[in-house]
Amino acid sequence: MSDVTEALSRLVRDVPDYPEPGIVYKDITPLLADHGALTAVVHALAAAGRDDDGRTAVDLVLGMESRGFILGAPVALELGVGFVPVRKEGKLPRETHTESYSLEYGEATLEIHTDAIAPGSRVLLVDDVLATGGTMAATRRLVESCGGVAHGAAVLLELSFLPGREAIGDLPLLALGQV
Ligand code: PRP
Ligand code: MG
Repeated sequence: MSDVTEALSRLVRDVPDYPEPGIVYKDITPLLADHGALTAVVHALAAAGRDDDGRTAVDLVLGMESRGFILGAPVALELGVGFVPVRKEGKLPRETHTESYSLEYGEATLEIHTDAIAPGSRVLLVDDVLATGGTMAATRRLVESCGGVAHGAAVLLELSFLPGREAIGDLPLLALGQV
């Protein structure tokens, strides 16, 4: 078993019926608190932003509020590029592009500063979990609204019983684990 697979199975906890009955919440906080595990997953996620020769193939890493922030910023540092936050509604102070989307539980809106991505920039999208894919698909639309190119997506876990992959279409996905 790889370090990453071991870390995911040991340090991501299932919390039944949170935040709503019938939902099993994936709690990544024990993994974040473990330096070795955090280092291993950040390194593994960064591979989605590299070409076959190991060179950085993206201009920016983008993370979605809030758990995508925690993973996306260190992935950006590992790749030697900057980080762009996609935030929940009403949190960004300047002009934004806005996309609404459905979550496994509920509805939400994400925003990006209109000048956050220079046209033509290649962007890696980083989050903790791909569930319905609503968050990732909305984020891809935001990148494209800015004129950027979504290079790929990287997540710790894909919930394969939900149609996340379908929702993100042809966006290449690296999932470090699947449940
Ligand atoms: C969770 C998770 C992903 C998203 C996945 O975020 O962190 O971002 O749901 O679900 P989807 O594929 O069905 O869109 P959430 O919006 O709960 O907020 P958080 O990151 O602030 O905890
Ligand atoms: Mg999230």
